[in-house]
Amino acid sequence: PDRLIGEMPNIYLYASNNPSEASLAKRRSGAVTITHLTPPLAASGLYKGLLDLKDSLTRWRAMEKDGAERDELQDLIAQQADAVDLGNISPDQLWLKLLETEDALIPDGLHIIGKPLSDAARAEYLSIMDHADEETRARVDALLQQETELDAICRALSAHYIEPVPGGDLIRSTDILPTGRNIHAFDPFRMPTAFACQDGAKQAQLLLDTHDAVPRTVALVLWGSDNIKSDGGPIAQALALMGCVPRFDSFGRLAGADLISLEDLGRPRIDVIMTLSGIFRDLLPLQTRMLAEAAQKCAMADEPIEMNFVRAHALAYVEKTGCDITEAALRVFSNAEGAYGSNVNQLVDSSAFGDEDELADAYQARKSFAYGTDGKASSNAALLQSQLAEVDVAYQNLESVELGVTTVDHYFDTLGGIARAVKRAKGSEAAVYIGDQTRGAGKVRTLKEQVALETRSRSLNPKFFEGLLKHGAEGVRQIEAQVTNTMGWSATTGQVDPWVYQRLSETFVLDEEMRQRLADLNPTASSRMANRLLEAHDRNYWSPDAETLAALQDAADALEDQLEGIAAQ
Ligand code: BEZ
Ligand code: MG
Repeated sequence: PDRLIGEMPNIYLYASNNPSEASLAKRRSGAVTITHLTPPLAASGLYKGLLDLKDSLTRWRAMEKDGAERDELQDLIAQQADAVDLGNISPDQLWLKLLETEDALIPDGLHIIGKPLSDAARAEYLSIMDHADEETRARVDALLQQETELDAICRALSAHYIEPVPGGDLIRSTDILPTGRNIHAFDPFRMPTAFACQDGAKQAQLLLDTHDAVPRTVALVLWGSDNIKSDGGPIAQALALMGCVPRFDSFGRLAGADLISLEDLGRPRIDVIMTLSGIFRDLLPLQTRMLAEAAQKCAMADEPIEMNFVRAHALAYVEKTGCDITEAALRVFSNAEGAYGSNVNQLVDSSAFGDEDELADAYQARKSFAYGTDGKASSNAALLQSQLAEVDVAYQNLESVELGVTTVDHYFDTLGGIARAVKRAKGSEAAVYIGDQTRGAGKVRTLKEQVALETRSRSLNPKFFEGLLKHGAEGVRQIEAQVTNTMGWSATTGQVDPWVYQRLSETFVLDEEMRQRLADLNPTASSRMANRLLEAHDRNYWSPDAETLAALQDAADALEDQLEGIAAQ
């Protein structure tokens, strides 16, 4: 990139919530980034059958505990719940599920550069900032009414100075306003901060509380962005699981990791396979070495193996292979230097895999580079394979409110990829969890729950898809991506319920009027979506009845004809 860019100024419009990729744009090609807002957030709300169900539940909850009327209503509730794919759940649990769905934050459409939020969108945004004080809300309200992005682009093009700004999610970091500034990331010496360590320990405990047994090995996916936005929260989670803390030198600079005593820890040290995105590896070399040191110290600690699973697994590997303990203690894996991603997303996107184990192959080929305490990478496929066979839990934190696990293809590329690799290495599935700290004290959901929540609050929610459809072809493309990413989770984890595909088909393909609308806006994406749903059936991720299948096939044919017609013109 240095040679290609030469002396050319590089002015790069960037989403204000993406400091990690923005840092890469600077390093690779000297970019001056000009931040722009992300779409306004809104509460999902409820719609159609979910609203009817909530009405009935509200009445049910207000009724006398043992009246006949209540029993009757309970029958209706069961029917209504079944109709929205929430069968066999108690009314109290249903109530909690509905509240969670109603309250989930979703992006409302797309942001248009230089166009401030509408009054209504701004008001809704402020209403969900329920944690902020009055002064902050007033400041955000005023800043969101200013237009600063187009002016910044013009100033950059006139070679004027562009002021720096930290990157982050507006809901958590209001300092990102005003937009139209040059993004910077973090102080690499201070991460993880004391706050991140405290919160990381809490979130690690939440994961342990959610899983039904103490896991021996957790596979934790670490990205740059989730860490940068939380000053190292997920890094601190990894340390907490292993029973370690960061060590800082007398200048307060990160210098390594230390063990907490087993006495203070009060539980065994959990083995953690840390898989870094290529971006993490590039942006956080100090933390990469620190995590390797933490694992190494665990493996070498003179402690009983029933209280130290890192040591137990490292010693077993030494026994099996005859390698030395420093090699057996390697737990930080990523791509080869200069490489990014596992390619699982590309294989899914282009339907270029046969058996799902091919996804495990791609993942392992790309991610089997072990990073040691010296920060150097060495290819070690055998060690990764052996560690994968021990994994009980695979886990990743959501990096922002805007991007769900079905919004972009990177989550199933990283977490899905490792889950599939574990399944093959171990011969059985690991539990897969998503950590969501985007609001409140944090929540750990199973992947299945997360996909269901996003399907209800986003994909099938008119408030979500109508917001996107206002943006024409790009909106349809994003809906189609949502469907493809959903299938990515089926391919990698099998944790998508069949109703998800059924409802996606009904909403976007089998509904004649909607299909025509989407096809007029973006015939290519519409055709891809119909074919993706058929592909999901071919791969046995759902089994529609014959009538649904025939209708879906007819629709796909019609969409293809329409595309060919356009090509012929
Ligand atoms: C990261 O920040 O590490 C990341 C960003 C986008 C895709 C994958 C990883
Ligand atoms: Mg990209």
